[in-house]
Amino acid sequence: MILHRAFPFKKIVVGALLLLIYFVTYQCKNPNIASDYYDIEPIAVHKNGQAFAGSTSCIPCHSDIYETHLKTAHFNTSTLADSTTIKGSFEVGRNTHVLNNRVEFKMMETDSGFYQKANFIHNQLELFNLKMDVVIGSGTKGQSYLNWKGDELFQIQTSYFTPTDSWTRSPGLKEIRSPRPVVARCLECHATYAKNTNIDGFGNQFDRNQMIYGIDCERCHGPSAEHVNHHHNNPNQEASKHMTQFQSLTRQQRLDACALCHSGGREPIQPPFSFLVGDNLIEFSTPEVNDSNTPLDVHGNQYELLTKSSCFKSSGTMDCITCHDPHKNERGDTEAFNQKCISCHTSPKVTCTAEVMTRNTKMNNCVSCHMPLFPSSTMVMQLDSIKTAVEVRTHLIDIYP
Ligand code: HEC
Ligand code: HEC
Ligand code: HEC
Ligand code: HEC
Ligand code: HEC
Ligand code: HEC
Ligand code: HEC
Repeated sequence: MILHRAFPFKKIVVGALLLLIYFVTYQCKNPNIASDYYDIEPIAVHKNGQAFAGSTSCIPCHSDIYETHLKTAHFNTSTLADSTTIKGSFEVGRNTHVLNNRVEFKMMETDSGFYQKANFIHNQLELFNLKMDVVIGSGTKGQSYLNWKGDELFQIQTSYFTPTDSWTRSPGLKEIRSPRPVVARCLECHATYAKNTNIDGFGNQFDRNQMIYGIDCERCHGPSAEHVNHHHNNPNQEASKHMTQFQSLTRQQRLDACALCHSGGREPIQPPFSFLVGDNLIEFSTPEVNDSNTPLDVHGNQYELLTKSSCFKSSGTMDCITCHDPHKNERGDTEAFNQKCISCHTSPKVTCTAEVMTRNTKMNNCVSCHMPLFPSSTMVMQLDSIKTAVEVRTHLIDIYP
């Protein structure tokens, strides 16, 4: 009896049968598996059921793109907080942010991580001490910091401001207040995927094991595990499978792939992270209604500004990719951008006056005059009488005084 119980014959037979069935069907579906390739373990699963492979899985076949992508603002726009990713200083003397005449923040580095401690100035009484868990922003203009409380995500009060290389208050947070919930929409623009666990999909609760920080390959190309597995199993196939082709999309769909995050605040129709490349954005969210003066801001609206430009309207073909290589950090590469202008505005079609063109030959900087920088109205730091603002590049290509 005892022997019989301890030796589960039935289970072994059933198990062996199952294994046999599995191998037979698997081999039939994939008759030419020659390699010992195992399907990759997904790092997250989209709510539509498609799996994310993670960008390291792209390296074997797209290593050049992978390498340049690591240096982009997109890839670095959200990540775990550590001494290399937080741009602000923890040095005594530079680690304080005075909020008002009562409260100050001290940024503290300890063995267990990086913290923002708020206290009253007059008696140093501590108000709260919160860990900086997640960094938002590559640091081009600034950074904000998020704190996990269980599975809820909050924004902490003090941010980092790049133009002055100092700590500052987050836009809109003037008085001391409890951390502001970070809703899924915030991450929709700053991360590849975050599985929201609120019933409606809009709140600040997330599955912490299914967060993909940074704007990675699969943010723009969609969850790609099927593509990765397919090409590993079919190494000789040259045409891509299970991957949306940008070139096959309509102009509006190509624009939508960027407008998801570059068309300002939008009114959602469906929960964040529902939109995938190839979809029509208008079915997922509608543009914010605003008067004729489009506000220019850090949470920029490059899409709306560009679509108002005569280059965009008259060319019939222009989209974001006309000027931007989505896989490279091209900030400051004025020469490359000017070449894009000249590719359409070949002389004699360029009708800038001679005087202007003489100045051009020296600078040849079409962008500096026709897409000038404007100061941001929200990312501003006021210190005594000195006001410093980040500068934002307008995408309304026009003739400026
Ligand atoms: C085992 C090889 C392999 C891996 C791994 C792989 N790909 Fe590909 N991919 C291909 C091949 C082959 C093509 C078609 C030829 C080309 O465009 O380079 C392709 C094409 C593409 C295209 C262009 C589609 C088109 O037709 O315009 C995109 C986008 C793409 N891959 C994204 C990815 C991403 C993102 C990953 C990682 C998550 C990835 N690939 C991993 C083999 C691979
Ligand atoms: C998921 C949201 C999202 C999508 C989709 C997206 N972007 Fe961005 N983009 C951002 C964010 C956020 C930043 C700011 C990153 C930072 O500096 O932290 C940014 C920054 C940029 C920059 C500035 C880069 C720099 O060096 O400072 C360019 C250019 C850009 N995006 C172009 C595009 C284009 C073109 C597309 C479409 C192919 C696109 N983006 C799609 C969110 C997005
Ligand atoms: C609609 C999409 C969208 C949403 C929502 C959004 N952002 Fe952004 N954010 C952007 C884009 C796009 C940029 C880059 C803007 C530009 O250069 O025009 C940016 C820039 C930033 C920057 C400056 C990054 C840098 O290094 O220059 C910070 C910090 C930031 N966002 C924080 C946040 C936080 C925190 C939230 C949520 C509480 C949030 N954003 C919500 C799209 C968005
Ligand atoms: C900001 C959005 C964005 C990100 C992030 C992104 N791509 Fe792309 N990718 C595009 C767009 C847009 C195109 C189409 C470009 C074109 O048609 O000129 C493209 C084209 C491609 C192609 C085919 C054409 C080519 O250039 O070879 C491959 C392969 C590819 N991407 C792979 C990747 C991989 C791998 C990563 C991550 C390491 C990645 N992409 C990250 C937007 C993005
Ligand atoms: C895809 C082609 C294309 C590209 C790229 C392009 N343009 Fe244009 N642009 C046009 C067309 C077409 C017109 C309209 C010409 C007309 O109406 O005669 C135009 C018009 C203009 C005008 C006149 C605006 C007005 O309101 O009168 C300026 C200035 C201009 N472009 C500057 C630039 C600059 C600067 C760049 C580079 C940042 C650039 N363009 C890139 C196609 C392009
Ligand atoms: C120093 C500033 C400056 C630079 C640099 C500059 N432009 Fe202009 N551009 C102007 C001004 C001002 C006008 C309007 C007066 C005129 O037509 O000369 C103009 C007009 C234009 C027009 C419209 C002409 C029309 O008839 O509507 C185009 C197109 C244009 N520029 C393209 C370019 C291109 C392409 C470059 C780079 C090769 C460039 N510009 C460089 C200042 C500049
Ligand atoms: C006619 C060329 C052109 C087109 C088309 C274009 N851009 Fe740009 N974009 C530029 C130039 C030039 C810069 C400045 C780059 C720099 O500072 O080095 C820029 C900068 C940016 C930045 C950084 C802005 C800042 O203030 O730092 C973002 C974000 C961006 N572009 C997004 C987009 C998006 C999204 C689209 C499509 C809706 C688009 N661009 C279409 C030329 C273009």
